[in-house]
Amino acid sequence: MAEASFNSVPIIDLAPWFAGAAARNEVAQRVRKVCEDVGFLYVTNHGVQPALVERAFEVAHEFFNLPEAEKLKLHYAKTGGHRGYLPLQAESTDPTAKSDFKEAFDCGMVLAPIESNEVAHPRMTAPNLWPDNLPRFKEVVELYFDSVCSLARTMFQIFAVSFGMSEEFFDDKIDRPIATLRLLHYPSRSRVNPTDHPGIGAHADYECFTILAQDEIGGLQVQNRGGEWIEVPPIPSTFVINIGEMLARWTNDLFRATPHRVVNAVGHERYSIPFFFATNNETMIECLDSCSGQVNPPKYPPVTAGDYLAGRLKEIYGV
Ligand code: OGA
Ligand code: NI
Repeated sequence: MAEASFNSVPIIDLAPWFAGAAARNEVAQRVRKVCEDVGFLYVTNHGVQPALVERAFEVAHEFFNLPEAEKLKLHYAKTGGHRGYLPLQAESTDPTAKSDFKEAFDCGMVLAPIESNEVAHPRMTAPNLWPDNLPRFKEVVELYFDSVCSLARTMFQIFAVSFGMSEEFFDDKIDRPIATLRLLHYPSRSRVNPTDHPGIGAHADYECFTILAQDEIGGLQVQNRGGEWIEVPPIPSTFVINIGEMLARWTNDLFRATPHRVVNAVGHERYSIPFFFATNNETMIECLDSCSGQVNPPKYPPVTAGDYLAGRLKEIYGV
């Protein structure tokens, strides 16, 4: 039987989840269906204050408007590669395409040193770098990070319930998570800028899932199973959440890590803020009991989150 494909990204209201136990299973089943069919959803009533999202975009504008020399002081090479500033065209997210026409600022969870026998990926342990002439920047970015991290933990509770497990199933696997917040700036396309560079090349995200805030410009597209690119237009007060490869693997490909890309708008610059959420470094990503059976045995060997992410980043970026 041909699999049904999709022509739009569904919207799910999280208000009933936050209202209490009664409607939680219903919300969880709705989320699960969309993660299986589409791998992308919008969420509303997600608990992150609109004013905080607005401030995060304001400081992103301030940051990317700094002179290039100021931004280069925070160059990502100074952090071991995964935190700090990435200049325009520093990445080819789709290695078969031209470099991305975007610049980025990455920061991560600040964690106490872990036990010496754990080898942690630099995405988890590298120091954050902050601009010293933008007073509000660090404060706003950290507040936003914490707020969206709390939503990420809620999403894991929703996923747990959706698989008939206790709401707390993932809690101890995400108390020291590999989590990266990225501010992105996509300059407009014009005659001057090369039009054959993607904003961000086609890819699936590597972590468990991503919580994305986008401004009002648009340009994000997801690929349906028929190979068509479907627009994911901005909807005020929502986040876009998309499943990444780790959660696809954990669910034996029941959840989909759907390919997506960004095409820069002509005549408009665009800002977006993805938050990439994995698990603790040492958490074993191993087929969940409810995701396999006689007809669908586990497809992937167990791997720790840290090893999986390190492997993927090495394939793409060489570090
Ligand atoms: C990403 C991504 C989408 C966007 O950074 O992985 O897909 O809208 N970003 O910026
Ligand atoms: Ni992505």
